[in-house]
Amino acid sequence: MDKAKRKAIIAGNWKMNKTPKEAKELLTAIAPLVADADCEVIACVPYVDLAVALEATAGTNVKIGAENCHWAESGAFTGEISTGMLKEIGVEYVVLGHSERRQYFGETDETVNKRTKAALAAGLKPIVCVGELLWERECNITEEVIARQIKLDLWDVTEEELKNVVIAYEPVWAIGTGKTATSDQAEEVCAFIRAQLAKLYNQDAADAVTIQYGGSMNDGNADELLSKTNVDGGLIGGASLVAEKFAAIVKAASK
Ligand code: 13P
Repeated sequence: MDKAKRKAIIAGNWKMNKTPKEAKELLTAIAPLVADADCEVIACVPYVDLAVALEATAGTNVKIGAENCHWAESGAFTGEISTGMLKEIGVEYVVLGHSERRQYFGETDETVNKRTKAALAAGLKPIVCVGELLWERECNITEEVIARQIKLDLWDVTEEELKNVVIAYEPVWAIGTGKTATSDQAEEVCAFIRAQLAKLYNQDAADAVTIQYGGSMNDGNADELLSKTNVDGGLIGGASLVAEKFAAIVKAASK
C-alpha cells in the first residue's frame, strides 16, 4: 500500500509532566497551531489532565489519549484506571507498553497484551510501544526482540481489531537521550514490524497499520524520519511539551 494512504499520526506522550492548569495552557497554545494539519494529532496526557484536556480541545482536531489503562473492568487494583473510565469521559487513544512502564513498573508482554485486548474491546485505540534496549541492539538481536514483542503484545488481536491499533517503534536507547535513531535505522525496524504483521495477519492488513517512530524526534529531525516509507508518524516525548516544536513536527507530517 502507498504510504500516502495510511493515516499519519503525530502523538505527544507527555509522560509525568504538566498539571491540569498547565495542560490547559499548553493545549490552548497547540490547537490553533495545528488546526490545518493533514495528519491526526493526539496528546496523551496524565490521568488527572484528561478532563481538562478534553475540554480544552473540544471542537478542535486535537484528540486526547491516556498513558495506560488496566485490563479489568473494575475491582481491587489500587492506583489503576479502567478502560470504561477513559471511554466514559471521551478518551480515544491509549499508550500501552511504553518502555518506561516496562523498565520501571514491571510491565511485561503478557500484561501489555491484556491491556491491549481490553482497550480494543472497550473501543479505545491502543498505541502499542515496542523497542529494543541498547545492549540488545549491540548483541544484534533487535529483530528477535521486536518480533517477540509484536507477536506477544498482539496475541489474540483479530484482523478487524488490528485496524484500530497503532504501533510505535521506540528504541529504548533513543528515548530522552537526544540520540535519535538514524532515519535508515528507523525505517529498517518499522519495515521489519510491517513484515511481522504481514506474517501474523496478511499483507493488506499490515499495509494499513500506522507505525510511528519515537525517541528524541523533534522539529529538526522530523522531516527526515517521516520521509521514510514505513515511518507513518511519531510518538513525541520532550518536544510535545513545547507548542511550537510539537506544531512543527505536525507540519512535517502534513507534507
Ligand atoms: P522523547 O521524545 O523525549 O525522546 O520521548 C520519546 C518517547 O518515549 C515517547 O513515548
